[in-house]
Amino acid sequence: MCGIIGYTGKEDAVPIIVEGLKKLEYRGYDSSGIAVYGKNGFDVVKQKGRLSVLEDRLKDRMRENKPLCGNLGIGHTRWATHGEPSDINSHPHVGSKNKIAVVHNGIIENYKQLKERLENYGVPFASQTDSEVIAQLAEHYYCGDIIDAVIKVSNAVEGSYALGVMCIDERDTLIAVKKDNPLIIGICDHGNFIASDVPAVLKHTNRVYYLNDKEIAVLREGSVQFFNMDREPLQKNIETIKWSMDSAEKGGYPHFMLKEIMEQPRVLRDTIQSVIMEGENKNVLDNISVSCFNKIIITACGSAYNAGVTAKYVFEKLCRISVEVELASEFRYRDAIIDNKTLVILVSQSGETADTIAAMREAKSKGASTLSIVNVIGSTIAKEADYCLFTAAGPEIAVATTKAFSAQLVLLYILAIRFALRLKILSHNEERELLAQIATLPDKVSALLDKTGSIQMYASTCVGYKSIFFIGRNIDYAIALEGSLKLKEISYIHSEAYAGGELKHGTISLVEENTLVVALSNCSYLYGKIMSNAEQVISRGAKVLLIGSCSDAASAHDSEKLYHISLPHVHEMFSPSLSVIVLQLFSYYVAANKGLDIDKPRNLAKSVTVE
Ligand code: M6R
Repeated sequence: MCGIIGYTGKEDAVPIIVEGLKKLEYRGYDSSGIAVYGKNGFDVVKQKGRLSVLEDRLKDRMRENKPLCGNLGIGHTRWATHGEPSDINSHPHVGSKNKIAVVHNGIIENYKQLKERLENYGVPFASQTDSEVIAQLAEHYYCGDIIDAVIKVSNAVEGSYALGVMCIDERDTLIAVKKDNPLIIGICDHGNFIASDVPAVLKHTNRVYYLNDKEIAVLREGSVQFFNMDREPLQKNIETIKWSMDSAEKGGYPHFMLKEIMEQPRVLRDTIQSVIMEGENKNVLDNISVSCFNKIIITACGSAYNAGVTAKYVFEKLCRISVEVELASEFRYRDAIIDNKTLVILVSQSGETADTIAAMREAKSKGASTLSIVNVIGSTIAKEADYCLFTAAGPEIAVATTKAFSAQLVLLYILAIRFALRLKILSHNEERELLAQIATLPDKVSALLDKTGSIQMYASTCVGYKSIFFIGRNIDYAIALEGSLKLKEISYIHSEAYAGGELKHGTISLVEENTLVVALSNCSYLYGKIMSNAEQVISRGAKVLLIGSCSDAASAHDSEKLYHISLPHVHEMFSPSLSVIVLQLFSYYVAANKGLDIDKPRNLAKSVTVE
């Protein structure tokens, strides 16, 4: 978590950094801060709270005729791990000798030992953070050569870090280094950048270098140099980012989440196209061999895990191969039974989720093949997995994932179809028929998005619920998990998802007068079953929101108690792609009606790069 940015160039760094931090705020929003060089040392403004608080402080400085400005600076937006959100714990951190300032994304695991050692040398610490130790340690090592000090810090610290470093004696130089957290270097005509993610620099440039672990970047106004830890120069390739500037803007929508929901027809089309047109995705699909695997494990976190649970139904139905789905945070410590006949699929929007990275490394160390489904090009999971399929979702800014989830689903369906063909379980004709069904999804999603009125209206009646349950059977259960996560994440309404058949084993005791149960009904052969679950809860006073393409009996119910949102017909296996649209909109409108900060829900951050 946390976002860092730095700039050195011809322009004033401060407005550039503020703009960049706005694009990184999804990574954390407990506090923010900026450092530039002042007349007598560093000039630092840092504040607890949202970026808007920092902006107010910067305006105050203008009014006081002491504007924060300079051609080189670093900025940070924080998701607190060590030390509460407070002004003093905000970044940048400056060492006690006022020589070195640092912004840090990551966790320094051995900070206590390092801090103790430095305190024994008499170094006074100001904050409770692990990050301050980096600034203090860098000053401790610094003997007139900042690159040397940064190398020594990198060798001394354990854990993960992406760092931006300034040194008072080298006012034209910005240093960056990383391990296990993302960092890009952007270059443009007026200057050079470091940033945690591409959208932070997109306004200025689409030309970036991806820094690898333990590589150092030395940025000056007109130059960028790279070194390894032995200080040998490195040649790196520059990449051109295809994302447009608009993709990192709200484009007239009140929230990124709504904009991203609305982008889904395009995202689905582009993702489907990506496996048909010549390019990386098509190459991977054409070349990956499935016959050598006797087991598939899908591992991921949060919504990406829910995409995996959904995909299990599709893989097992189409490929008749055993699929396990496991939370990456559990998988990494479980000593799972895997070998070179196992395919481990990692699903991740960011490609930087710490638990998913650890799961991937664990799988690789046991000889499994790894295939990742990732949205962010250049991310750790994309780079380290044996194969990678990219979702064509573009930058996803809202903390609650929507379009990336939909793109993950579609790639997983296509992967399952391709495997089934290779395994000769599907004929070419059957493959074509299924792909033709998938090709109808963008238009069907579009049709749903054209008629959001009934969802919006129903959601407006749901703001008062303390708890909402989601039920489904078979693949509908998988998507119920995602509906429940989406709702609780942004609306702060407690929510659980249950397999319909489990209700009577305990959950039904929670159902009382006016409890809301959202029931998914897309599996025709289980329609009777889910409806009988609906009846069971209605007879105990609950209200049911029924979402699905199966509905004939819906009208037979008391309309006060049952509200039906109908979905277009599509093959049952792909119905989650339609259900999820309604579930996302439902959550969005409930949260919007509650007036909540939808794009930045409390306590959350978009990329969870710490454990
Ligand atoms: O970047 P990843 O897909 O690896 O992130 C995984 C989860 O943190 C993420 O899906 C999270 O659950 C979302 N905020 C849910 O909307």
